[in-house]
Amino acid sequence: MKGGFFITFEGPDGSGKTTLINNLRPFITDELKKDLIITREPGGVKISEAIREILLDKRFSEMGSRTEALLFAAARAQHLDEVIKPALDAGKIVFCDRFVDSSVVYQGIGRKLGVQEIIDINRFATTGVNPDMTILLDLPADLGLARIKKHRSEKSDRIDQDQLSFHEQVRRAYLDLAAKNSNRIKIIDGRQSPEKITKNALQLIQEALKGRI
Ligand code: TYD
Repeated sequence: MKGGFFITFEGPDGSGKTTLINNLRPFITDELKKDLIITREPGGVKISEAIREILLDKRFSEMGSRTEALLFAAARAQHLDEVIKPALDAGKIVFCDRFVDSSVVYQGIGRKLGVQEIIDINRFATTGVNPDMTILLDLPADLGLARIKKHRSEKSDRIDQDQLSFHEQVRRAYLDLAAKNSNRIKIIDGRQSPEKITKNALQLIQEALKGRI
């Protein structure tokens, strides 16, 4: 059996990660389909989807940053145990929309909890499981927020609603993280057309998976 491979998709709000993952679906061969799990955070399993509802609920504007960070980590621990770890142990490929890097940039930098603190609680949550490759869709924060406003203003969530300066910090933190982890994190310019972005991502994934896609 071929080894498991873990790919995460990251980017600021409105960067187009979810669209990219949907656009990749038609390129996945029937053979690979049996071997591929596509999932997302916060969420992916019943308990984590319930935690997601609490995290994104606009009624909970009083939520403290540490509570937020611990809830993201708790959702991740359950998702890892139920989906990601078993799939990787079975040699499958996992595509995950957001993972620990999101907590590092949103909670560690955006909420100013500290990068090391976030890495520590997430090491506990993930038992040290790390992505093999991360695709970072980079986009200026104002463009991302404008996209959200245009396409789903009625559905904006508690975190989308944060100030532009918060989202600018998140974007810069992602770029910084990518510079420090250039072997793992590959940047794609999110201002390109969806077709171009899909093509770039496919190329990166094909290289990483060497002929499995
Ligand atoms: P997501 O469902 O990916 O939303 P979007 O499609 O708008 O990018 O994530 C929901 C929000 O949760 C998003 O604003 C990013 C935030 N988030 C964190 O702050 N920390 C985390 O660890 C994760 C996974 C997400």
